[in-house]
Amino acid sequence: MKTMTNTKGRLSIIVVIVVTVFACKNEPDKKVNSNDNSSKILSISEEARYRPNFHFTPKKNWMNDPNGMFYFNGYYHLYFQHYPYDNVWGPMYWGHATSTDLISWKEQPIALYPDELGYIFSGSAVVDFENTSGFGTDGKVPIVAMFTYHNPKKAEAKEIDVESQGIAYSLDEGLTWTKYEGNPVIENSGARDFRDPKVAWDDEHKQWNMVLAAGQETQFFSSLNLKDWKLLSHFGEGIGNHGGVWECPDLFPLTVQGSDETKWVLLVSINPGGPNGGSATQYFIGDFDGSTFTVDKNFEAAMKDQHDFWVDFGKDNYAGVTWSNVATSDGAKLFIGWMSNWQYANEVPTEAWRSAMTIPRELRLVKSDGSYRLAFTPTDEISGYRGKKYKKEAIAVNGEIKIIETDDIDLSRAEILFDISAIQEGGFNFLLSNDEGDKLSFGYENEDNRFYIDRKNSGKTDFSEEFANKVSTAPRISGDKGLSGRILLDKTSIEVFYDDGLNVMTEIFFTEAPFEKLSMAPENDELTLDHLEIHELNFN
Ligand code: FRU
Repeated sequence: MKTMTNTKGRLSIIVVIVVTVFACKNEPDKKVNSNDNSSKILSISEEARYRPNFHFTPKKNWMNDPNGMFYFNGYYHLYFQHYPYDNVWGPMYWGHATSTDLISWKEQPIALYPDELGYIFSGSAVVDFENTSGFGTDGKVPIVAMFTYHNPKKAEAKEIDVESQGIAYSLDEGLTWTKYEGNPVIENSGARDFRDPKVAWDDEHKQWNMVLAAGQETQFFSSLNLKDWKLLSHFGEGIGNHGGVWECPDLFPLTVQGSDETKWVLLVSINPGGPNGGSATQYFIGDFDGSTFTVDKNFEAAMKDQHDFWVDFGKDNYAGVTWSNVATSDGAKLFIGWMSNWQYANEVPTEAWRSAMTIPRELRLVKSDGSYRLAFTPTDEISGYRGKKYKKEAIAVNGEIKIIETDDIDLSRAEILFDISAIQEGGFNFLLSNDEGDKLSFGYENEDNRFYIDRKNSGKTDFSEEFANKVSTAPRISGDKGLSGRILLDKTSIEVFYDDGLNVMTEIFFTEAPFEKLSMAPENDELTLDHLEIHELNFN
């Protein structure tokens, strides 16, 4: 399926073209940020109110997808889609940040600039230890990035071959980059949307694999030198969600937790078509034989049944992919997503910068009932920031009860862990609130067997009709009677990990004042919260 055929798909193309035409009128290198003065006035209160405590944001202006993540010599590198001259999407650059622990990030100079071949769209980076590319000199290990060139002139002229793939290399551990003179290394093959290459060394088949999105499918390529690429196969027709264009795929092998079985994981972001509207990331589990990706039979059967194989059911985790050259001690991959949604990303009520990344997450593969699921948990590194702690066992919840106030624990930088050994009929409901009347509720409805987040009255919501028109829901995946939850709260985001990460919901919000109180109420009967632990997180 190479061209977008549905109305939603066409709509999204039109939006991209309109934005592109607008962006072309701006001279990226000369344009002065039109928001500079206003953002200075706003910045004091905006910084205090909305700049996240522990989620990565660019210092200034626009950010979308995470790109080119790799780990090398003690540093995690995070590049990102960036328009450095305005707070809306425009000609794309790769911004850059580094961290030694995935939590505290230092923004670095811009890594990749648009050139005559186009804007620098999303892509990936690998450490080429064996110097297969030949870019390494004087014994320096080259880092090789692969990205999409998006040609705005061709987009404006409504041509098809708008996107092609280019590479660049760095000999100073990702700080500065040289684009390859032979770019593009992959010419457009006839799909208008042909982008977001994710490269990884395949140790089993001794080749570099690359997966990219083309219309509503993924295409797999291989190479031995990162410059010459061979198209291997296609995947996607008739399977998975096709509510919108496919973007930002990732392909990697992963060992099933607690076994020595290995399966291949394929992540595919789609926009629109997400379970609660707009952008979201679906996944497939199967096998890759060095050439073709085949979905596991049991997984395919489960997909037909359940349609719920989403990385995150909240509205704000998009275009997420994994870090190369690193895994946790038990083999989990590290993942990060863009904490926004194309439905309203350009309108969220911050001026100086726009959007944040999710907390980096550990991604594991688990097996149950003969099929497979991904489970996500926050990076362990967050525990290193725990400070003041509140802990209580066996809390009887009968009617609305206050759990904690911000005087005890700052709810704009908190980690909450809870266990319920027996969920009662009515489910449970947590409520964050403040004296301004802002409310955010989240919890579980037993009757419908689903989790939810309701941000309808969470403060500023009217910047977009689609931001809070519906309550987001997620079918519960685990069938257990008991339930555990882990929640990360920042100034403008909530990330909830239920049942050891089988269900994740991530959403952003913009309160008029910080949340002051966390309370709880069962829907219609009593509930015992068997264990509750709240940690204030300390950041400098
Ligand atoms: C996903 C995406 C990518 C593209 C980039 C452009 O959010 O649309 O497919 O490379 O953003 O900024």
